[in-house]
Amino acid sequence: ARLDARNTFGVAARAPMLVEVSDVAALPELFGYAMLRDAPVLVLGGGSNLLFADDPPGAVLSLGAQSIAILEDDGDTAIVRADAGVEWHALVLWTLGHGLAGLENLALIPGTVGAAPIQNIGAYGVEVRESIHAVHVFERATRTTATLTAEDCAFAYRDSVFKHAPDRWLVTAVDFRLSRTPQLRLDYSGVGDELKAMGIDAPRASQVAEAVCRIRRRKLPDPAVIGNAGSFFKNPIVPVAVADALHAEHPGLPMFRGAGEGTRKLSAAWLIDQCGWKGHRDGDAGVADSHALVLVNHGGATGAQLLDLARRIAASVHERFGVPIEPEPRIVGATW
Ligand code: EPU
Repeated sequence: ARLDARNTFGVAARAPMLVEVSDVAALPELFGYAMLRDAPVLVLGGGSNLLFADDPPGAVLSLGAQSIAILEDDGDTAIVRADAGVEWHALVLWTLGHGLAGLENLALIPGTVGAAPIQNIGAYGVEVRESIHAVHVFERATRTTATLTAEDCAFAYRDSVFKHAPDRWLVTAVDFRLSRTPQLRLDYSGVGDELKAMGIDAPRASQVAEAVCRIRRRKLPDPAVIGNAGSFFKNPIVPVAVADALHAEHPGLPMFRGAGEGTRKLSAAWLIDQCGWKGHRDGDAGVADSHALVLVNHGGATGAQLLDLARRIAASVHERFGVPIEPEPRIVGATW
């Protein structure tokens, strides 16, 4: 099966088998077959956070279930369950349409609900872990289902237990805890300024989502127009002493609160931009004109060419600033 249209980089890739599962009740029986039981299986959501550096070695599986439902509602807080196959932005709009806030800053992130907990998607000062109540999974080895609490998921910046055991579970559905009394977060990356420019003083959650959509449409290339997977690198987390030393030398370097005490998160986009990569192009593999953190496929780039460009970018940042940067998307068919 061809996967070219199933990855937002739009690179050519082929899988020996593509399994579309519409009912997760079929998973225990499916994973009894040798092709799925004994071989690597790649679970594909929206294909928006991976790079096919080569063809996947085994079967590719996609979960199609699409329901969203309110499980509990006390009039203020509600628990919403969404199947893994639901498109993320559709869930954001559904929750806002039901008066439930919490996901508004995460509007327009490409991909599916099932992928959201894997890398703990985040944007504009909010991470999805803040709203996750539970994650429903199918465990391959035991062919049983289980429910993980948010604590079990060990969420951190662009990280979770799922990233450290990539073949153990399939996420089948996610429960979110959302609220009708929103605590809006407007202080990050221009959301407040965007609302002001829209002439809105006392925003509702849906208007915050609209502001986020406007910023994203302006800054990030649309994968439907030019192949990309959003931020290609994570913002590096370094000890405060390292951050302070870098800041003394480069006062313009943007820094954010770190992953914990004693650390700072640096802007990978700024580091890459300083090395002159923005708008760079090697054949069809390039760096977006509008954002240094986004690698783009101008049409015919291969995954291997994009990976090669990414490695050269990381090497140049390391050489100039002494800071290692790591890819954010999953790299299939190669190791970083
Ligand atoms: N900057 C540059 N050059 C650029 C772009 C940005 O120097 O070409 C500097 C600017 O100073 C800017 C700063 O970098 O203020 C931060 O840029 P931005 O606000 O775009 O955020 P980011 O740190 O680059 C992160 C997430 C994005 C998310 C934004 C908004 C990661 C890896 N990326 O990017 O997530 O949308 O914050 O909150 O954490 C994604 O994960 O795919 C993604 C797009």
